[in-house]
Amino acid sequence: YRDLRVALLGCGSVGAQVARLILEQGDELAARVGARLQLAGIAVRSLDAKRDVELPQELFTTDAEQLVLGADVVVELMGGVEPARTLILQALEAGADVVTANKALIAAHGPELADAAEQVGAQLSYEAAVAGAIPIIRPLRESLAGDHITRVLGIVNGSTNYILDRMDRFGDSAEDAMRVASELGYLEADPTLDVEGYDAAQKATILASIAFHTEVPVDAVHREGITGITSEQIQAARNAGAVIKLLAIAERVTATDGTQGVSARVYPALIDRDHPLAAVHGGKNAVFVEAEAAGELMFYGAGAGGVETASAVLGDLVSAARRHVVGGPGIPGSAHADLPILPVGEVRTRY
Ligand code: HSE
Repeated sequence: YRDLRVALLGCGSVGAQVARLILEQGDELAARVGARLQLAGIAVRSLDAKRDVELPQELFTTDAEQLVLGADVVVELMGGVEPARTLILQALEAGADVVTANKALIAAHGPELADAAEQVGAQLSYEAAVAGAIPIIRPLRESLAGDHITRVLGIVNGSTNYILDRMDRFGDSAEDAMRVASELGYLEADPTLDVEGYDAAQKATILASIAFHTEVPVDAVHREGITGITSEQIQAARNAGAVIKLLAIAERVTATDGTQGVSARVYPALIDRDHPLAAVHGGKNAVFVEAEAAGELMFYGAGAGGVETASAVLGDLVSAARRHVVGGPGIPGSAHADLPILPVGEVRTRY
């Protein structure tokens, strides 16, 4: 096999698992790809930080820019907008394919990065940016590319699902449920991102943009979090045969004047107890898709976790590496249907 140089940027809980899997499964991956994935290096901020996995010290460097040069595939797992954005643009310009799990970056700069990739015929993939291990980006972008998606309902934030689920099933108060979620390390470093719906809104942007081939900026997503949800409301929902879940909703809508558009919103929604999304417990994620031809589909699984998320990253890496072997341009980013984004913020539907 020929070697393909893989540059890894970041070595947190996901990055360390990606590095381990590349090293441990080298032969298997080589057979699957038709080339050997050679881990060229891992760029980190500090060489002596503690890692989740023991990895060869000589792989580490603090010079991300140098590492990116000459890579066939760059895997960006550092998080945050900068320097990730600049490094990805440099990688694409140099002809590398890019795999990222960076939801904040894709939510804010997805179209810019997709255009940069398209211009050079490279592939940009970000399966792990939404709902961790769950394959949802590729199904929306590829498997359902010939269908007409009408609605996407996602439980895409595991920590808030965990909190609401504890309140519903164990009768926890909001404070107690929040404390347990925090002790288990389910919340982001800044928990506001979870409980106020910012994290879910970033994922809603990404899902809406792909599902509807239209750029849906994150500030066009109507957002409400779960901080106002009380035990009484949870109980009232239960009495009414429903459950409250924080949903990221992207759907096709028609305005009163007949204009066709899309809307995206995040809020604590009422879901019938017999809807499949009502059975998504604990910190799990699920995305429920409604499409004209396919009908209803649901994708369920782990929305976070180092090794779980690494599975999605590896899938993208194998796909990018195969493209290097067979040649040809990457799958284009979101085509631009340019549907207007219609505000339907206050609409409350029971699903
Ligand atoms: N804080 C996020 C969640 C992590 O709770 O789902 C995964 O993106």
